[in-house]
Amino acid sequence: MDVKKFLAAGIVFAISFLAICGCGTKQAAAVDMVQVGVAYYDQSDTFLTELLGCLRAQFETMESGRLHITMSIRDAAGSQRRQDDQVKELIDSGCNVLCINLVDRANPAEIIDLAREHAIPVIFFNREPVAEDMMQWDGLYYVGADARQSGVMQGELAADAVRADNNRIDRNNDGKVQYVVLEGEPGHQDAIIRTENAVDTLKNRGIALEKLSCGIANWSRAQAQNRMMQMIGQYQNQIELVLANNDDMALGAMDAYKKLNVTESALPVFFGIDGTQAGLHAVADEELAATVYNDKEGQAAAIAKLAVALALGEGMDGIAFEKGRYVYLEYAKVTSGNVRGFLGRGD
Ligand code: GAL
Ligand code: CA
Repeated sequence: MDVKKFLAAGIVFAISFLAICGCGTKQAAAVDMVQVGVAYYDQSDTFLTELLGCLRAQFETMESGRLHITMSIRDAAGSQRRQDDQVKELIDSGCNVLCINLVDRANPAEIIDLAREHAIPVIFFNREPVAEDMMQWDGLYYVGADARQSGVMQGELAADAVRADNNRIDRNNDGKVQYVVLEGEPGHQDAIIRTENAVDTLKNRGIALEKLSCGIANWSRAQAQNRMMQMIGQYQNQIELVLANNDDMALGAMDAYKKLNVTESALPVFFGIDGTQAGLHAVADEELAATVYNDKEGQAAAIAKLAVALALGEGMDGIAFEKGRYVYLEYAKVTSGNVRGFLGRGD
């Protein structure tokens, strides 16, 4: 009996000893858990789909034995109300940082209130809230790019092309370039600002322009094809230059010409912005004259670094903010001369 008791006490002691040691080791190798909630405006958007692919890859490379990161993604399918509900649900599920691509960039009030109430920091990206809303709370950040820069670069690329190949581009030889614009969503910082700066830059570089038409195609390839079909119907072979606010719309414009079987010598020159996979391939094939690279890898890296820093409350020092809470990545010009370097980036 005594021996049994002695043995039992020994076992209890051994188990508690192991448990204490176990806890000790666990503390030494404590795992940081970062639960990221991502909400974006619409899964049909090509650039955003590619950007989120980069973001996922970034979080994967940041994971280690000591850092565990999960990412939950919600698609708002174009409804701000749905996105507000999704954010509520992400917060309830325990996210400790939010990355938000607003549906309506002028209407982040509900999300800001929810986040502040639960003290969960928010990184807005790609669709920039107005400055007034960004000032509502100091847990709000923005990662994106400067729309003006992309417009200026597109204008410079187009001006260079007109200079280099004036006879081919000014097909009717009237000394002016007849152009049309395909615009993104009204109210988006990357629509009107890109258009204005591209056109102004062409003019400042001494290119005489004649605007034939402008159509809104909401970033969409299919909508751009439709708009372009209407414009071709109206202006036939007079269009010499197509400035599109993004690659998908430039590709949609090219689709319209293909559908109508227009001969190559009657085609305008097309310019896009983004450098999506399809856009870069079109530049490599010399169908798209040039594009402007919207640095999705850089933006994803900045979002990921900031998200982890905010969730863990450390590591903010290495981040280069503008105006305290903004991170803007540089655009870059892409032509057939340097496109290979960009095509390799996603690999
Ligand atoms: C822009 C991009 C567009 C579209 C839009 C969505 O920056 O150039 O292609 O993705 O964001 O907000
Ligand atoms: Ca002309």
